[in-house]
Amino acid sequence: MSIKIIGTGAYVPEKVVTNDDLAKLVDTSDEWIMQRVGVSQRRVSVDETASDFAVKASLAAIKNAGIKPEELDLIIAASVSAENICPTVAGTVQKEIGATCPAFDINSACSGFLFALDTAVSFMARGTYENILVIGAERLSKIVDWTDRSTCVIFGDGAGAAVITKGEGYLGSKLFTQGDDSVIKIPSFGGTSPFYTAEKPAPYIFMDGQETFKFAVNKIVNDIKELVSKCGYTLDDIDHVVTHQANIRIIDYASKRLKLSKDKFFVNIEKYGNTSSASVPIALAELDASGKIKRGDLLVMSAFGGGLSSAACLIRW
Ligand code: ACO
Repeated sequence: MSIKIIGTGAYVPEKVVTNDDLAKLVDTSDEWIMQRVGVSQRRVSVDETASDFAVKASLAAIKNAGIKPEELDLIIAASVSAENICPTVAGTVQKEIGATCPAFDINSACSGFLFALDTAVSFMARGTYENILVIGAERLSKIVDWTDRSTCVIFGDGAGAAVITKGEGYLGSKLFTQGDDSVIKIPSFGGTSPFYTAEKPAPYIFMDGQETFKFAVNKIVNDIKELVSKCGYTLDDIDHVVTHQANIRIIDYASKRLKLSKDKFFVNIEKYGNTSSASVPIALAELDASGKIKRGDLLVMSAFGGGLSSAACLIRW
């Protein structure tokens, strides 16, 4: 049993924070951020949570799919920046959109949406599920250290969602985890237990940018190459590439190393920055809405990030 994607949706908060706005907070410049990262602006929450974003992206995806919330059999959400540990993002979405199905969250950082999608495909293989909603939602502005110029210029807030149903579109996937806390780490609240004596690190994103960069370029290129070949295709067969929008230099590098035209890569990092698990589904929803992807096209999606983790999947649209 495979799946096809029948609806996509995205939501980003209204507030735009430009590079010039950030240059008033930390020692940086529009020129540095554009050249090194490729981000011109990002959206930042004023009063909404990651779950609020998820609800709006989910309603858009469900509408796009042409189904009703009560027709969902499962909701899976990925997030590293949810307001609550429980209720989960998926549980909040279930309540707010009027669905009644089981719902749970997973966490695999920036690869989270593709891990969630692959999990949904496995549930679909049971043959008893018709429609599953998969979400990536982040309010990274909550966990960014706004005094750290090496991270605060990169990240943004938003959510994306997709509805999957039975079909023959999911051709294969590749998931990877290399348990490691030296390159990327997001500690959670350390608690106030008077009995716990170990260090309680600040609950912000810590990232060794250069090590992450090396990991990212290696994974994006090799994951796509290996997956496409494992599924019996060549890179020439690929019509569209949707990758995690982490750094425009990573996408440029992948395009060159894979010898795939940059035109095949969907890019929106300039508008939103790195939205972690929301990055791939927001890009997918925008590609879908653009009308450029047609039924039958071959789409490869790839993500990488904290964990360390990476994921890729090949889809016949
Ligand atoms: N503005 C101006 N200068 C800066 C800034 C800034 N915002 N940030 C860093 N610098 C400075 C540094 O201090 C350093 O100065 P120095 O040479 O005087 O020491 C110089 O710029 C170069 O710093 P590098 O860290 O070497 O810069 P680099 O070119 O590697 O770019 C970046 C940094 C953008 C973080 C890059 O390494 C990157 O994109 N890494 C990958 C990020 C990624 O893929 N993340 C995805 C996963 S995130 C997750 O899972 C949560």
